[in-house]
Amino acid sequence: MTLRNYLEKAKKEKWAIGQFNFSALEQLRGILGAAQKLRSPVILGTSGGELGYLGLEEVIALFEIAKAKYRVNAFLNLDHGKNLDLIKRAVDYGFSAVHFDGSGLPLEKNIKYAKKVIECAYKKGVLVEGELEDIKKDNLTSLNKAEKFIKETKIDSLAIAIGNRHGFYKNVKLNFNRLKEIKEKTKVFLVLHGGSGIPEHQIKKAIKLGIVKININTELRIVWKKSLAAAFRTRESKPYKILAVVQNEVQKKVEEKIKLFGSRNKI
Ligand code: G3H
Ligand code: ZN
Repeated sequence: MTLRNYLEKAKKEKWAIGQFNFSALEQLRGILGAAQKLRSPVILGTSGGELGYLGLEEVIALFEIAKAKYRVNAFLNLDHGKNLDLIKRAVDYGFSAVHFDGSGLPLEKNIKYAKKVIECAYKKGVLVEGELEDIKKDNLTSLNKAEKFIKETKIDSLAIAIGNRHGFYKNVKLNFNRLKEIKEKTKVFLVLHGGSGIPEHQIKKAIKLGIVKININTELRIVWKKSLAAAFRTRESKPYKILAVVQNEVQKKVEEKIKLFGSRNKI
């Protein structure tokens, strides 16, 4: 099954595939461990910052080895790619998907660059996700812009703004009316960014209304940091003991999300 196959299946059956970001081995293993245990497909995300730290070569090497070891259906996505050269390199290195974040650009420029990304990605069967409005509080994806963008670029997926935002916020109020309107007017895969902290019932409703991919980053970073900090307060000094606990905590959080997104046993 390719990532496209999974997204189509998710759309038909009304569940969502999680994108979990990583920049540390404990996160990568925790995510794949959860996917293996719950027989769920997963997307591993790396943003510019995460890639800048790990390096494209290490990301691909670590990912391929870990994926084979865990025997899971996992896919790599370049998250919030703003630099065309980096996006091209990710495509060449074998990422399954790239997210071109042109949200800071005027619509015409966003369309122009998205087309360039698509041109290079499609040759290799790499999925492309686009973004229109900055994903922050009170920003809503414009229906007209979305229709024009999709029609002109023929993009696969769209990251939408419906009251979601990046970071850990519990007081999120997703605009389900806008989600319904976008769903009615488009056929692309709809993506919810800023998944950390969004109350469970809102996540479930968003999936019911057509979201097929949900990105989680901050929540995993918090688990990683808190469990590491707790280990430092003990007398333990062996990295392999401390980090095994951290990995386990990350895995538990990812398992929670996989169950919530309904991607369990969908492999
Ligand atoms: O692209 C990554 C996600 O949108 C992560 O958002 O840090 O709020 O979970 P989050
Ligand atoms: Zn995001």
